[in-house]
Amino acid sequence: GAPVEADTTKIAPGELVTVEWRGRPVWILHRTPQQIASLGGHDDQLVDPASRKPQQPPYAANPSRSLKPEFLVLTAICTHLGCIPSYRPEPGAADIGADWPGGFYCPCHGSRFDLAGRVFENVPAPSNMEVPPHNFMAGGKLLIG
Ligand code: FES
Repeated sequence: GAPVEADTTKIAPGELVTVEWRGRPVWILHRTPQQIASLGGHDDQLVDPASRKPQQPPYAANPSRSLKPEFLVLTAICTHLGCIPSYRPEPGAADIGADWPGGFYCPCHGSRFDLAGRVFENVPAPSNMEVPPHNFMAGGKLLIG
């Protein structure tokens, strides 16, 4: 399928937008400075904190799993059985856990992912969510695919 284009200048800090690429939903999250900072606090609870498995292009195999720390581009599909997780940015959400740093929560079987789509231990999902191929163009344009 053809690449899909998005204008990142229209996405507010903390806002998540969904686009479609190859028939699958793809999220673009404009992470706030606090959300970027939250990624550093829970490596010991993650299955693959350094993203060594190939669930992202090589240029996104870093702790923020992105080309630019403020923009996460993520295929919005749980790596367990394919449900669409919910964006749950509020730290300590009562229904998820006091240690919740903010992230994505899958309503189907309770898998938990942080704000880089990295999976927490002791959930059904086996691996981090996928980062699709993407690139930034002039003027804040994002090309996915
Ligand atoms: Fe997400 Fe099972 S499909 S936890």
